[in-house]
Amino acid sequence: MALVHEDEAILGRSNESIEKYGSQGTAFFGKVVMSSGQNPVLGRKVLIDLAEPHLILICGKRGYGKSYSMAVLMEEMARLPFSIRQRLSVIVIDTVGIFWSLKIPDKKNVSEIGGWGLKPASTGVRVFVPKGRLSFYQEHRIPVDGAFTLKASELEGMEWMTLFRLSWKDSEGVLLGKVVDELKDSGKQFGIDELIEAVRSEKKAPEKVKEAVIGRLLLAKQWGLIEKEGTSIPDLVKPGTINVIDVSAYRQAIGMEGTRDLVVAILGKKLFEQRMLYRKSEESKLIAGEKRESKMPLIWMFVDEAHMFMPKDEQSLSLQVLLEWVRVGRQPGLGLVLATQRPNKLHPDAISQCDLFIAHRMTSQMDIQAVSALRPSYMYSDFDKYFHEMPRGRGFALILDDNTEKLWLVKVRPRLSWDASVTASAMPY
Ligand SMILES: Nc1ncnc2c1ncn2[C@@H]1O[C@H](COP(=O)(O)OP(=O)(O)O)[C@@H](O)[C@H]1O
Ligand SMILES: [Mg+2]
Repeated sequence: MALVHEDEAILGRSNESIEKYGSQGTAFFGKVVMSSGQNPVLGRKVLIDLAEPHLILICGKRGYGKSYSMAVLMEEMARLPFSIRQRLSVIVIDTVGIFWSLKIPDKKNVSEIGGWGLKPASTGVRVFVPKGRLSFYQEHRIPVDGAFTLKASELEGMEWMTLFRLSWKDSEGVLLGKVVDELKDSGKQFGIDELIEAVRSEKKAPEKVKEAVIGRLLLAKQWGLIEKEGTSIPDLVKPGTINVIDVSAYRQAIGMEGTRDLVVAILGKKLFEQRMLYRKSEESKLIAGEKRESKMPLIWMFVDEAHMFMPKDEQSLSLQVLLEWVRVGRQPGLGLVLATQRPNKLHPDAISQCDLFIAHRMTSQMDIQAVSALRPSYMYSDFDKYFHEMPRGRGFALILDDNTEKLWLVKVRPRLSWDASVTASAMPY
C-alpha cells in the first residue's frame, strides 16, 4: 500500500521509495473524495511524488481546472525543502499568459484556503517573455523578470524552413537551408543580420528568390525571438528555479504560429542533450562513491495545451523533441507535465506513456475513448462510471497512478496564489 500515514496517500512513488523517503519531496495536491454529492466529505491527503521525473498528463474539458492543477503543482515545487528543490528546475510553457500571477498571493479565497490548513502566499516564479514583446508586458504592467531569446546558430536549416513554411521543394527553402548550413559550419556566431548578409552575397541565386528569403528574415527579426547570443540555457534552468516562458503574445499573431513550437523544440532539444551529458557524469560520481550532484538540475517541463505541441496527425517542430522526452526522458531526469482539453488530438504516445494521469471532468466521448483505449485495462471499465459520479464543481479529478494501479477521486486543493485565468479583468493592477 502506498501509505505512510493513515491520513496520506502518496501517488507516483514506489513502495520501496516510500519506505526510504516517506513523504519527503511530494506535492500536496488535494484530498480523497469520500462520499457522493456536490459537497463531498474529504478524506486523506493526496501527495504526488516530485522527486523523480514523471510523465503527468492532465486532461479535462475546458474550464474545469487543468491550468489550475498545473499551478498547484508549481506552487508545491516552489515549497519543496531546499535540499530537494536545489536538484530541480522547472520550465513552464505558458500559452495563455496566466502563470505570472503565481507571484501574487490570493485575496479572494482566504477562508477556503484556511480550511485546508494553508495560507495565501506568493510563489517565486521567474517570468520570461520573448524580447520583442517585452514592451507589451511593461505597458500592461504585468510583472516580468526578463526577456528571452533563442540563439540563431542553434536552429537547424530545417527549423528555419518550417518556421517560414518552406521546404526543399521551394527555391527559397533551398537557399535558406544552404545559407544556414554554411554559417553553422563556419562555427561563427551569427544572428539574423548575418543571415541576411549571407543571402545577399549568394552569387548564383536569382534576385527574386533572395528578396523573398530576406523578406522573411526581416519579419523574423521583428518577432524579437531569435538572436545572435540567445538566452543561456544553464542560466534559465538555474537549480531551484521555476521559470515561466510566456509565449502567449504569439498566440494570434499571423505568421507567428511556428514560433511557439520553436521555443519548445529548441529548449526541449537543448535540455535533453545537456541532461544526457550530466546524467553520465552524475552516474560516474555515484560509482566513485561520491554524492550524486551536478550543476545541471533535473528538469520538469510543464506544457499547457499540449495538443498544439504534440499533435496526433500533424507535424510540428516540437513533436519529435517532446516524443523523445515522453519515451526516454525519465532516464536522464526529464519530467513532463502535459495538459490538454483534446486528448483525441494529442499524440497517442503521450497518453500511453504517462505514469500519472489526472482527468478533470470530460464529456466528449471521443476524448474519453482516446484515453481509455490507450490505458491499461484496469481502468477501462470504470472510467465512464467515475465521470458520472464526479461532482459537477470545478477542481475535482480522477487520478490514475501506475504505481498503485488504482483510480483516486480527488478534490484539488485551492491555489495559494491569485488565479489570473478567471477573466482578464481580474488582473490586480
Ligand atoms: N481546484 C479548484 N478549486 C477551485 N476553483 C477551481 C479549481 N480548479 C479550477 N477552478 C476554477 O475553474 C476555472 C477554470 O480553471 P482552469 O484551470 O483555467 O481550466 P482549464 O485549464 O481546464 O481550461 C479557474 O479559473 C478557477 O476559478
Ligand atoms: Mg487552461
